[in-house]
Amino acid sequence: MTSSHAVQSGDAVRKHVLVFRTLPPDQLARLQAAHDVTVADPRKPEERPRFDAALAQAQGLIGASFPVDAALLARAPRLEVVSSISVGVDNYALDVLQARGIVLCHTPGVLDETVADSVFALLMATSRRLVELSQLVREGHWNKNIGEDLFGSDVHGKTLGLLGFGRIGQAIARRAALGFGMPVIYHARRPVDLATQAPELQGKAEHVPLPALLARSDFVVAMLPLSDSTRGMVNADLLAAMKPGAIFINGGRGATVVEQDLLHALDHGTLRAAGLDVFATEPLPLASPLRTHPRVTPLPHIGSATHDTRHAMAALATTNLLQALAGERPAAVYNPAHP
Ligand code: DGY
Repeated sequence: MTSSHAVQSGDAVRKHVLVFRTLPPDQLARLQAAHDVTVADPRKPEERPRFDAALAQAQGLIGASFPVDAALLARAPRLEVVSSISVGVDNYALDVLQARGIVLCHTPGVLDETVADSVFALLMATSRRLVELSQLVREGHWNKNIGEDLFGSDVHGKTLGLLGFGRIGQAIARRAALGFGMPVIYHARRPVDLATQAPELQGKAEHVPLPALLARSDFVVAMLPLSDSTRGMVNADLLAAMKPGAIFINGGRGATVVEQDLLHALDHGTLRAAGLDVFATEPLPLASPLRTHPRVTPLPHIGSATHDTRHAMAALATTNLLQALAGERPAAVYNPAHP
């Protein structure tokens, strides 16, 4: 039997895979067992030529946090599958992928609880001023009991308003409603059927119009995906409609917020504080006033950044890629490739 006959008679076909973000060794080994794999990070100038050469051959791409735009896809004529190690797909030219019949996979589900933990940490940190007060101790300024000027505001019992109520939003709502006794209201394109999707939140989370959410919420948490309809959604008007003293948290995508408007609301409006895990430009430019604003708690996009969860995301993305390259329906496909 010739090797080409072996390939055609049932042995799996080895394809070209380009890994553009570090994969854990066990997941890289799964790919290497089945395919010819190049690992090259396009963000590193010294790896760019290898990335470009591999891209021209690649049938599978796997990675995250790099724009896979129309120009990049034009240099990947053989591409069949893109597997993102993220749930968000705003880095991908969805229209081009769809038009070319390229499968796009992502990692929903495995990161929900971890991102909800991170968002809750921001909620606690902003309301109780944890970073600022910890800094005071570290810098040796705890020389008397703190006074009212450094008191925080309560979390328990306060109203949480969620912009977006997908899986992660629901995980945040569970923490708030079941753990902190917080009334939860949410605004989404359509109400979620709690009886079937989140029975534990029945009677505890209510779908309300946006103006009502803004007027009633002590915490407004944005968990919005980035799309044409959400880009810049958190703007001056929306911020001005928030309850005086409200705290704003963003755990979704930075570009859903007009950052100048957020700064203005902090400096000249009644917004108490903001906790931000995501920014319009990441990493956050050194010149951004959000980096050092006294009432902003900035984080470096760590929503899903735990060892367990990042490994689970890499494993799901690897499974997705292997399945799609084998012609099977992947476990988590975003954009089934049938134009
Ligand atoms: C995602 O998966 O889209 C998250 O933003 C990563 O933390």
